[in-house]
Amino acid sequence: MKISTLSKKDVLSLMDLTTEEILSIIELATRLKQEAKNGKSNVLLKGIVLGLIFQKPSTRTRVSFETGMYQLGGSVISLNTNDIQLSRGESLEDTARSLSLYLNCLVTRLYQHEETELIAKYASIPVINGLSNLFHPCQILADLMTIQERKGKLKGLNVSWIGDGNNVCNDLILGSAKAGMNLTIACPPGYRPSKEVLAIANLEGSKSGSKLVVTDEPPVAIANADVVVTDTFISIGNDEERLIRERVFLPKYQINQQLMNLARKDAIFMHCLPAKRGQEVTSDVLDGKASVVWDEAENRLHSQKALLLLLTGAKRGA
Ligand code: CP
Ligand code: NVA
Repeated sequence: MKISTLSKKDVLSLMDLTTEEILSIIELATRLKQEAKNGKSNVLLKGIVLGLIFQKPSTRTRVSFETGMYQLGGSVISLNTNDIQLSRGESLEDTARSLSLYLNCLVTRLYQHEETELIAKYASIPVINGLSNLFHPCQILADLMTIQERKGKLKGLNVSWIGDGNNVCNDLILGSAKAGMNLTIACPPGYRPSKEVLAIANLEGSKSGSKLVVTDEPPVAIANADVVVTDTFISIGNDEERLIRERVFLPKYQINQQLMNLARKDAIFMHCLPAKRGQEVTSDVLDGKASVVWDEAENRLHSQKALLLLLTGAKRGA
C-alpha cells in the first residue's frame, strides 16, 4: 500500500519556504549530520518512494538525493526523461498525474522552470526542483547550512555574489533576504538576476533587515564580504553562448586570489560545483583555505534529507 503524505507542499524555489521552515531544515540537517557521524541511523522514510526525473546531467543532486533516501530507509526510482513516455510526446500533465499514483515525492531537473511548475501543478505529491533555468533551491539550503556551520550565524553577514545572475543566484537572493544576510551582486549588465526575484527579496529584506545591492563592479561587491560565492558563467543550456559569455565575463568577473584579498580576512569561498577551474574561479582559490566547497557538496545530502522529512510529513523521534 502506498503510504500517503500528510499534505502536498512543493519546493520549486525558496519562495516556497518561510524563514522558519528554512531555519528548521538547517537545524534538522545539522542534527542528522551529527547523528550520522555518530553512527545513528534514522530510517524515518521506510516505505516512502522518491522519484527523480532528470532532463539535464547531474552528479551531486542525483547522488545526494538517492543516498539520502536510502539512508532514511526509503527507496528511489531515477528516470532520465528519455526513458519515459515524455520523450514520445506524453504530456507533462499526464506524466505528473501517473507518477503521483506510485510515488510519494518527486525531484525534477528540467530545463524550463515553467515545465517544473506544470509538473508540480498536476502532481498530487510534493515536487522538489532539483535545478531549472531559474532556480536551485536545494543548493541554497545546503549553502545556508554551510554558512551557519562556518560562521555560527546567518543574520547580518555580508555575502557577495560575483558572476552570472543565474538560477543559483536567484535562490541565493531569496535565501539571503529570508535569513537576514546582506547580499551584493556583481554581474555584467545583461546578465543580472530576475527582476521579479529582486523585487520579492527587497520586500522580504525590509522585514528581515537585509540589504540587497546590484553592481557591475566585483571589487565593490567583495569589499567587506564574509562569504564570497560564484558559479559557472556557462550554465547547462548556455553552451551556444559560450564564446560571447567568455568575452563578457573574463577576466573581470573571475574570482582569483587578488580579488579574494579584498574580502574580509576570514571570508569563506563557495561554489555549487561543477567548477570550471581557471574560468569563474582559479584553482588556488577553489583549493585554498577559504574554500568550503566540499562542505557545501556534503551538506546537500543532510539538508535534502531534512527537506524530504519536512515534505513527506515524516515525524522525527524514531
Ligand atoms: N551543484 C549541483 O547541483 O551539482 P550537480 O549538477 O552535479 O547536481
Ligand atoms: N548554474 C549551473 C548550476 C549547476 C549545478 C547550471 O544551471 O548549469
